Amino acid sequence: MFPRSSTTSGSAGASEASYPTTRGPWSVTSAPNPAWTTSTTRATPAPLTPHSEGYDFAVTPPRYIALWCITPASGPGGETTLMDTRPLVAALTDVERKQLLETDYAWKTTEGVQRLGLDLKTRHPILEERSGRDIVRFSCNNLIREDDDFAAALQSRWHAAFDRDHVAVEYHERDMLVWDNWRLLHARNAFSDRSRHLRRIQIAG
Ligand SMILES: [Fe+2]
Repeated sequence: MFPRSSTTSGSAGASEASYPTTRGPWSVTSAPNPAWTTSTTRATPAPLTPHSEGYDFAVTPPRYIALWCITPASGPGGETTLMDTRPLVAALTDVERKQLLETDYAWKTTEGVQRLGLDLKTRHPILEERSGRDIVRFSCNNLIREDDDFAAALQSRWHAAFDRDHVAVEYHERDMLVWDNWRLLHARNAFSDRSRHLRRIQIAG
């Protein structure tokens, strides 16, 4: 299921969907995402650039991401890599924080999603404050900006921090990895075993 985007083009016609938003006693809902599971966990063994899930959509991104391992990659690679953005956000100057909260940046989607027929473009700030916490919506690529923009420097700074400070999670059959997508950036190491198979679940905030 695809969330609604501010602008879409392509043939998939999935822009009418949205992230699960059930309210009431079951305030946290989950739904599998077969399209993205196929595109991101089976079909593209190249390394992924650090990002938060859903940065390329206009709606609030999923709060948690869960990856369930059906078949781990044999041989090297295929680990999910993660980095906590909290120290990076805490290190921002007041001026930088204000800019990230108040500037609508333009984002485009990944080539993998484009191959599914969705050419997404949207605008949103990198930081959002909600109920006393920060939501980070960011990617180290796919940001449409001028080279002298502060966001370009931030991409380089946070990508270097990711390369230095990430943790890499290796999968075994039936492992499930769950993380806070409002706080952590994630990526994936390259791999060569195309039988690697994970399932993804997105959990709304
Ligand atoms: Fe992702």
